[in-house]
Amino acid sequence: MHVRCPRIDFSNLNPRWSWHHEFAQRANANSVIPAYIEPFIVKVMHQAKAKLGADDRQLRDDIDIFIKQEVQHYKLHNAFNARIRAAGYPGIAAFEDALQARLQRIFDTKSLAFKLAYAVGFESSALVFAHVWFTRYAEYLDGADPDAVRLWKWHWAEEYEHRDVAFRVYKTIVGRRGLFGGYFYRVSAFLAVSLDLMKCANAIASHLLAVDRATMTPEHRQASEARDKAFMAQFRRDAGQALLNVLRPSYDPATATPTPQAAAYLASNEMTDAP
Ligand SMILES: [Fe+2]
Ligand SMILES: [Fe+2]
Repeated sequence: MHVRCPRIDFSNLNPRWSWHHEFAQRANANSVIPAYIEPFIVKVMHQAKAKLGADDRQLRDDIDIFIKQEVQHYKLHNAFNARIRAAGYPGIAAFEDALQARLQRIFDTKSLAFKLAYAVGFESSALVFAHVWFTRYAEYLDGADPDAVRLWKWHWAEEYEHRDVAFRVYKTIVGRRGLFGGYFYRVSAFLAVSLDLMKCANAIASHLLAVDRATMTPEHRQASEARDKAFMAQFRRDAGQALLNVLRPSYDPATATPTPQAAAYLASNEMTDAP
């Protein structure tokens, strides 16, 4: 696990960067999420680190790398999102403001225990997406814009690298809170964060797709709707198993090892800092 600062230039990116436009717009919508939740998680981790004792030196060191990786993630997603706004979709700014306000409210009003559980929930869902991206999306990424592909693969690969840090922090500080050794507390926070973020990403995707469809013929609009419906049905099937894994009482992200494709990517030149 180490910090990388890839330089990726999105200034000429076409928002429809995959031949499967609906897939690209779904990914563009999802890119808004880390730009706000990852700064939130970084703030939560700073609060958590202050609670750790001298015995937790390894965990404190891992938190430092975790934070630095997440900072790089949200910085590049911010640059990516700025390009999407500038390239014909300024309307996503309103969704971004709402998400930021919602997360700020959670940060200001909820306990550290809840915020850590919320952070673990997001980190768990990131592994679900990482799994799907590395195992199922090769067909959509074939011929796609390499800068967009690199953003996502680099991000997901690093999510694998630091996959158990937030969970270990949660276990150390929160421990077995509530019923059944803390199972319900962890799972209800996971469901809360998943619902929150899924609702937000779906609303943004609907907006992006509506902008595209406004200039389509009825036939093209219908075809676009059918492609999106099929894509989402496939996503639900692909993500389902990985999601069920998170709901198991014995869930431990340390055991969610990178898929062979992710391991190969982690070992590739794409994960160097070269521009
Ligand atoms: Fe991240
Ligand atoms: Fe992460």
